[in-house]
Amino acid sequence: MTIAEAQTTEALRERVAAALRRARDRSVALTDAVDDDDLVRQHSKLMSPLVWDLAHIGNQEELWLVRDVGGREPVRRDIDELYDAFQHPRANRPALPLLSPTEARGYVREVRDKVLDVLERTPLEGRRLVDNAFAFGMIAQHEQQHDETMLATHQLRVGPPVLTAPPPPGSAGPPRAAEVLVPGGPFTMGTSTEPWALDNERPAHTAHVDAFMIDTTPVTNAAYARFIAAGGYDDPRWWSEDGWAYRQHAGLTAPRFWLRDGDGWLRTRFGVVEQLPPDEPVVHVCFHEAAAYAAWAGRRLPTETEWEKAARYDPATGRSRRFPWGDEEPGPEQANLGQRHLSPAPVGAYPAGVSPLGVHQLIGDVWEWTSTDFTGYPGFAVFPYKEYSEVFFGPEYKVLRGGSFGTDPVACRSTFRNWDYPIRRQIFAGFRCARDAAPDERG
Ligand code: AVJ
Ligand code: FE
Repeated sequence: MTIAEAQTTEALRERVAAALRRARDRSVALTDAVDDDDLVRQHSKLMSPLVWDLAHIGNQEELWLVRDVGGREPVRRDIDELYDAFQHPRANRPALPLLSPTEARGYVREVRDKVLDVLERTPLEGRRLVDNAFAFGMIAQHEQQHDETMLATHQLRVGPPVLTAPPPPGSAGPPRAAEVLVPGGPFTMGTSTEPWALDNERPAHTAHVDAFMIDTTPVTNAAYARFIAAGGYDDPRWWSEDGWAYRQHAGLTAPRFWLRDGDGWLRTRFGVVEQLPPDEPVVHVCFHEAAAYAAWAGRRLPTETEWEKAARYDPATGRSRRFPWGDEEPGPEQANLGQRHLSPAPVGAYPAGVSPLGVHQLIGDVWEWTSTDFTGYPGFAVFPYKEYSEVFFGPEYKVLRGGSFGTDPVACRSTFRNWDYPIRRQIFAGFRCARDAAPDERG
């Protein structure tokens, strides 16, 4: 190995250690914020007890980095089954003989100490799992994904507020145009080069779209309130058959966490009751609500392919960028990510994050529902395990894009694909609208 190569490997190890540390600081903050009763309680049937997420984070880290990459002896050989998400649905997890909060904290610490040793001693090449430290990046993303899930549990939790963060930046003014044209034609979708991209983002391939118009911002609370005021929840015309059935069954009348206040609305947010901010992207709507709003507005949700072209396509070069603003990693100027704030930011708050075509806030703030079912790209290959993506492929899940204020940058790319059931509302999801371009708009 040359000196330059050794320095690059050392820099990579430091990046890995920093990503792992950052994830752990967040997991600790989210679990230290409440007492032990609260950690073992089920705050919603939709969620695990926080202490399950914590030990599951440690168990995945042990399976991949201690045992597989490190080739070491198990830290705990008796608990794999308890923390296997496929063995126990979330609703049943509180009844399991889980590690106590003290045991779970000790366990994740012991695993992490071993992993830092493995990181020092493992050559980060020669085997696909460790090339570019992939497995370490995968585990840092896994922990951050569970941190976002734990943040959603905090939002469901009843009681006085325990999390704090500065408010998001204000708007620099709404974008000049409400919608922009994305030209029809091919572009590169997905990636084969992003070192820590997960299997469902691969491989890079050419995808085609017809010319379409897309909103320059996510749909705001104020716009969504107009849909409610217009009787949108009571008019089956706007809803798909499944959507209407769910709206009736669940008695939906507004986004989750909205409260009527005379003619207006309040919302609860991590234990705080406050006026609904009109200019923030709406959050906590399910796919069916998003699709119904779009139909009422005479529009539709973008497909996943359209969303990615809007986020990445640079008409000047024909290239797909890593991010809307370019190839640089997201910082606080570009996007509302990483739980830096505890809400989406008003539309127009991130002018530095705009795409070449003029689309704002594609990354961060709220996950955006698309109309696309979660499936593998042409050439998809499972890596390294089919339970991450492949077992979820099919029509039951819709793709979400872009990440939310609760998504860490390590788990957010313009190629990153999230998915959930179309009825889910506890995730930090909103949407933006699109429509086909008319013949005279195609440019
Ligand atoms: C990609 C967010 C749908 O939380 O179910 C966590 C991520 N996979 N542990 C999920 C995940 C395994 C996954 N999502
Ligand atoms: Fe997991």
